[in-house]
Amino acid sequence: MKNIGFIGGGNIAEAIIYGLRQAGGQQHIRVVNRSNAERLQRLVETYEVIPESLPGLLTASEVVVIAVKPKDVGGVLEMLKAYDLKNKLVISVAAGIPLALLEKHLPGIAVIRAMPNTSSAVLHSVTGLVQGNDVTLEHVRMAEQIFKAVGHILWIPESQMNALMSVSGSGPAYFYLFTECLVQAGVEMGLQEADAEMLARETLIGVGKMMAESGKSPGRLREEVTSPNGTTIEALQVFWEGNLKGIVQEAANACAQRGVEMEGEYSV
Ligand SMILES: NC(=O)c1ccc[n+]([C@@H]2O[C@H](COP(=O)([O-])OP(=O)(O)OC[C@H]3O[C@@H](n4cnc5c(N)ncnc54)[C@H](OP(=O)(O)O)[C@@H]3O)[C@@H](O)[C@H]2O)c1
Repeated sequence: MKNIGFIGGGNIAEAIIYGLRQAGGQQHIRVVNRSNAERLQRLVETYEVIPESLPGLLTASEVVVIAVKPKDVGGVLEMLKAYDLKNKLVISVAAGIPLALLEKHLPGIAVIRAMPNTSSAVLHSVTGLVQGNDVTLEHVRMAEQIFKAVGHILWIPESQMNALMSVSGSGPAYFYLFTECLVQAGVEMGLQEADAEMLARETLIGVGKMMAESGKSPGRLREEVTSPNGTTIEALQVFWEGNLKGIVQEAANACAQRGVEMEGEYSV
């Protein structure tokens, strides 16, 4: 795949473009933005993307990534109707936009629904992917090439998309929040804020690496660092008594529910 076009040159487009460039991809990357010329210019200077008009981008690109806010997807799909997209792969990364809506506006076109997360910017996204009806093995390979450049991928049925969003799509914010709380606790116990932030952040990075590299489950790793009558168990006891498990479940449910509502708002 030599030519990729992004409709929308915002945060997620930039994260994916960064990943593709880091992976050493020599693709021609074209971007069309609505009005933010300054942002587009920055992408041109930083990643050597080609600023394009929509017709130019659609003609030249084998893969077209729709990377606009969910509320703007309808407008983009309306515009796309005027073009022949046969033999192209269209990938939407917009949250809450169902495959059925994409396929209704792009009949007979290969469409993939993707949900990356913000850690794309550091090549540690995990991207959920859902295949449309007209997707071939070659399209699968192209989508994997793009999203593997920014982290891990997972193909799922669309019925699992809101669950995936509740874990990995919105997950970064949960870990940021927990880290903020831990920093605050450290400050209240007398640490300098910058020190508390470094301690909490590096702890999280270390824990992530342990989970990724040790081959042990999070539960097993937790047990290994919790000695009976030690200090850690005192803290964990407070989490259990405060029903952390129930709170996390409730938060994930609320996230998934919002996903369901959005799919309803943008349904066919
Ligand atoms: N950020 C994330 O981590 C993340 C993760 C997963 C999925 N997503 C999804 O990715 C999508 C984009 O999110 P974002 O955070 O990247 O948003 P963003 O930073 O606001 O970027 C959206 C971009 O789309 C452009 N745009 C809007 N309408 C357009 C049109 N008709 N033609 C061409 N360009 C148009 C905007 O241009 P102007 O600025 O010129 O208006 C803007 O550059 C959303 O649907 C979101 O659900 C984001």
